[in-house]
Amino acid sequence: MINSANAADVAEQPLIFILNGPNLNMLGKREPGIYGSGSLAELEAACSKAAQAVGLRTDFRQSNHEGTLVDWIQEARDAAAGLVINAAALTHTSVALHDAVRLLDMPVIEVHLSNIYRREAFRHHSHISAVASAVICGFGAQGYNMAIGGLAQMLAQAGQPNG
Ligand code: DQA
Repeated sequence: MINSANAADVAEQPLIFILNGPNLNMLGKREPGIYGSGSLAELEAACSKAAQAVGLRTDFRQSNHEGTLVDWIQEARDAAAGLVINAAALTHTSVALHDAVRLLDMPVIEVHLSNIYRREAFRHHSHISAVASAVICGFGAQGYNMAIGGLAQMLAQAGQPNG
């Protein structure tokens, strides 16, 4: 009985999408000095744990394809209460992702593992930032935990009478 009650409680927790763009499936193998040595699976597990701690559920996905990411952002409109997005290289190029995020009426946190402003000039512009609620970069995998915590706060504030 206790287990089924817990399962029902968890099912009622708000769901957030955590979307990851191209080459993030290579985390751990890809330039570990910049992106860290942890794998994407480890990042997913850490996000799930961080979300549970603040009463959220996660749907964590990665794609190397712009159109798939657009589809998932559109799906978030009805399925999710908030979005954490690391669009990876598409951050710097994709008007399609910008337009998809614009369609969302929910908190959106843009995350980058690296500090994109300390890197090559072509990484300094983000098409996502102008349509994001907040941006976190340079904290490595920890940035995802921070994004989840920030999203939980935004959702809690939105649920308050003057939120
Ligand atoms: C990244 C930064 C991008 O410039 C890069 O193309 C990535 C990862 C980051 O998390 O630091 O793939 O989004």
